[in-house]
Amino acid sequence: MTTLVTGARGNVGARVLRRLQAAGRPVRAASRTPGGLAVAPGTPTVALDLTDPATHADALADVERVFLYAEPAGSTEFLTAAVAAGVGHVVLLSSETVELPDAATDPLARHHAVVEDALTGSGLAWTILRPGAFAGNAAGWAGPIGQGAVVDQPFAESQVAPVHEDDIADVAVAALTGDELHGRTVTLTGPESLTFREEIGTIASLLGRDVAVRDLDRAEAERTLAGRIPPPVLTSLLDQWGAGVGRPAPTRTCESITGRPARTFRQWASENLALFDRSAA
Ligand SMILES: NC(=O)c1ccc[n+]([C@@H]2O[C@H](COP(=O)([O-])OP(=O)(O)OC[C@H]3O[C@@H](n4cnc5c(N)ncnc54)[C@H](OP(=O)(O)O)[C@@H]3O)[C@@H](O)[C@H]2O)c1
Repeated sequence: MTTLVTGARGNVGARVLRRLQAAGRPVRAASRTPGGLAVAPGTPTVALDLTDPATHADALADVERVFLYAEPAGSTEFLTAAVAAGVGHVVLLSSETVELPDAATDPLARHHAVVEDALTGSGLAWTILRPGAFAGNAAGWAGPIGQGAVVDQPFAESQVAPVHEDDIADVAVAALTGDELHGRTVTLTGPESLTFREEIGTIASLLGRDVAVRDLDRAEAERTLAGRIPPPVLTSLLDQWGAGVGRPAPTRTCESITGRPARTFRQWASENLALFDRSAA
């Protein structure tokens, strides 16, 4: 029986898809625009817009397991359709923000909590993954670092424990291919707490050159990022980053599930160094 991978174009979904295929599992790769998916030749694809119930039944036909991105609009309808299709287990990509002290009002936390609640109330078997900040968020610095410009970073001394997307995918695949993680909520982070400045310093050391960082305060960040990030999301991010200044981020890795040490931010940066190196383009 097939595993439906939503977000098959996404950082995590694409990795989940490749791992399931490498393990010989039947998959169906879903996207709102499946025509442009970069998947292996012969990979079955399907058009799925989680917000559009008209697309749900075809995507779920003969599906046993689902890797699900959190999209609140349409989530109840999607999960109802999953029950009707006889789906056995759903693995949800949620977020550590659900555990914030102000999760009840934080927009990012609510975005994920709404889908968590719909899933746990659906009657389906479930696993919830709550990753912290992705290592791949560092790709947002590729422009200024590649151009040799100053990196403007709000709350540069804020700490996160960046989690490598390969580790998230490894845990997702463990959940999708076994029964041990049924009914479990798994919070996962990278192995070390780093300030944004230290993350940028790691990239700089791998490039072998200095990268200047300008620490933006909240008012400067709001002016700089307004128009690029929706206001409620920006408020949530700035709240989290402000709270992280001078406070080590808790590390909660998943060696017991993956059977290997969590990948470091340095590893992510080494693998993706070409993003930051204009001379390599
Ligand atoms: N970045 C972080 O630090 C962080 C931390 C914790 C949790 N998260 C959560 O992780 C997720 C992002 O993961 P990512 O980086 O792998 O994603 P990504 O690379 O940004 O890709 C987003 C994926 O979501 C799919 N998608 C968006 N709207 C959809 C819809 N209406 N119906 C079906 N598919 C839809 C897109 O598919 P198509 O465009 O192909 O349709 C795409 O594959 C978000 O839910 C985010 O909140 C992120």
